Amino acid sequence: MNREVIIACDFQNKETTFEFLEKLKDEKPYLKIGMELYYREGAGLVRELKAKGFKIFLDLKLHDIPNTVYKAMKNIASLGVDITNVHAGGGIEMMRMAKKGLDEGAVGNKPLLIAVTQLTSTSAEVLKNELLIEKSLEQTVKIYAENAKKAGLDGVVCSPLEAPIIKALGLISVTPGIRLAGDSANDQKRISTPALAKELGSNFIVVGRSITAAENPLEAYRKCVAEFC
Ligand code: C5P
Repeated sequence: MNREVIIACDFQNKETTFEFLEKLKDEKPYLKIGMELYYREGAGLVRELKAKGFKIFLDLKLHDIPNTVYKAMKNIASLGVDITNVHAGGGIEMMRMAKKGLDEGAVGNKPLLIAVTQLTSTSAEVLKNELLIEKSLEQTVKIYAENAKKAGLDGVVCSPLEAPIIKALGLISVTPGIRLAGDSANDQKRISTPALAKELGSNFIVVGRSITAAENPLEAYRKCVAEFC
């Protein structure tokens, strides 16, 4: 599988998104559309970006009863997105039904379906005291990834540092927490350069501010591609 750089479009609305995309000139990279933008602009923006030739990772992290997730995934697949995701915490049956919905609703290529294991914002304390999970974060991530595999999913979202474990399970890893050398870590705790992510076996890197907040986003994007792909 080819390695790809995904740009996290963490913008408030369509206008700021298109202003940013103009800076990329003729490049047509993968774009990650998350809740912030999707809940403002909806499916119309996804269709518009697909029509312009961008590949889309629709990051909505579904987590509901299996039947609801099944029907929602059918609709998501009909948008022609390339990657989408669910929370592995919804369980194996929910993930199976997500995959079924995606397969049935797909137009053309089937999108990749990946699972969020534990959010990187969940600390060991929160896991134990609020989610009441006794196993360690690492064990939980591994078991949730195995569940995703049992459900027929393609991979997981994880830190590049966890990519080797995910690869050993035969799953694709989509890894945020990426910074070009010299950039600020901002609120990310465990960061990696595109080159290190490649070395660790990541399949897709998700890069936000290192590209979107760069003085020259096109140059920063090309730098990520040169290092990672
Ligand atoms: O700007 P930055 O490169 O930190 O953006 C990373 C993107 O990846 C954001 O959209 C963030 O929500 C997302 N993400 C993350 N860590 C996860 C899952 C998603 O940073 N575990």
